[in-house]
Amino acid sequence: TEHFRFPGGLARCEPGGFVLTEEFGRHAHEIVNFKPRTDDVWVVTFPKCGTTWTQEMVWMMLNDCNAELAKTTPLTIRAPFLESSLFEKMEFAPPGLADLMPSLDVIDKMPSPRVIKSHLPFYLLPPKLLETCKVVYVARNPKDVMVSYYHHHKLLKMPSYSGDFETFVNYFMNDHLVFLPYFPHILDAWAKRTNPNLLFLFYEDMKKNLRGEVEKVAQFLDKPLDEAKMTLLLEHLKFDNLSKNDSVNFKSAKDLGYMNDEGTFIRKGKTGDWKNHLSPELNRRVEAWIEENLADTDLRFVMEL
Ligand code: A3P
Repeated sequence: TEHFRFPGGLARCEPGGFVLTEEFGRHAHEIVNFKPRTDDVWVVTFPKCGTTWTQEMVWMMLNDCNAELAKTTPLTIRAPFLESSLFEKMEFAPPGLADLMPSLDVIDKMPSPRVIKSHLPFYLLPPKLLETCKVVYVARNPKDVMVSYYHHHKLLKMPSYSGDFETFVNYFMNDHLVFLPYFPHILDAWAKRTNPNLLFLFYEDMKKNLRGEVEKVAQFLDKPLDEAKMTLLLEHLKFDNLSKNDSVNFKSAKDLGYMNDEGTFIRKGKTGDWKNHLSPELNRRVEAWIEENLADTDLRFVMEL
């Protein structure tokens, strides 16, 4: 497409027709054959649904809420990003980025318990994942995801986007960006939500009542928190604190020149920011697209709080 760029090119991956990099296409079998462990916890999301927030929460729970270690070790190293493990294989990746993004071999040898992040839909993940370990899936309303994904592309140098917001929304609805299509990704996870190894969360619930969602995750992971740890964790996960926390806001990647100077990865953290971006006409088109895609399901999104 005219405004969207990912060096090395893109590929549609089956099943599902998901847009990924060509490099991913060449290594997809390695991801499918990757061995999950029974004590892993995977955080699986469509991009911009609250992955980083949830990853940090899960990592803290599995590591006795060790905030000092969390603040001094980049999240990408503590809780590696599965498909970015392929960066070491991309000649166009900025130098040094591979050190921040552990390779598949390194992830394979990481000590337990591992926290693994992926934006891949279940279709492209190891087929026995949900039979093997716990997975936290986070969803977010599509309008805020579009806005957040737009700013993400403006911030990052790879993938990058040079057009306006309206064109971006058209790309989003027509599956011309990496990790799309959005609905099959989320609806497949929604269909699996009664699986005892899957916890399906919404970003909007975390915004509304973080404590309640933290309690759910703690129970799911069997990691009860006493009151002191709960207070510490809630403070640690607050937007104002997380956005200033260089270990989770990808400061090291920014220092390597992977991002533009303007802006930060943890950006605004609001539900309903779409109202500042979508014109009434564009909003109508997006609403029609959402309605069409939700017609046969009971999944409903909260668009504002
Ligand atoms: P915005 O761009 O709308 O601000 P992901 O980690 O999946 O890429 O999601 C990023 C989105 O989660 C960004 O949304 C970011 O600001 C938001 N986010 C990260 N930490 C947050 C927090 N503690 N509270 C609220 N939102 C948070």
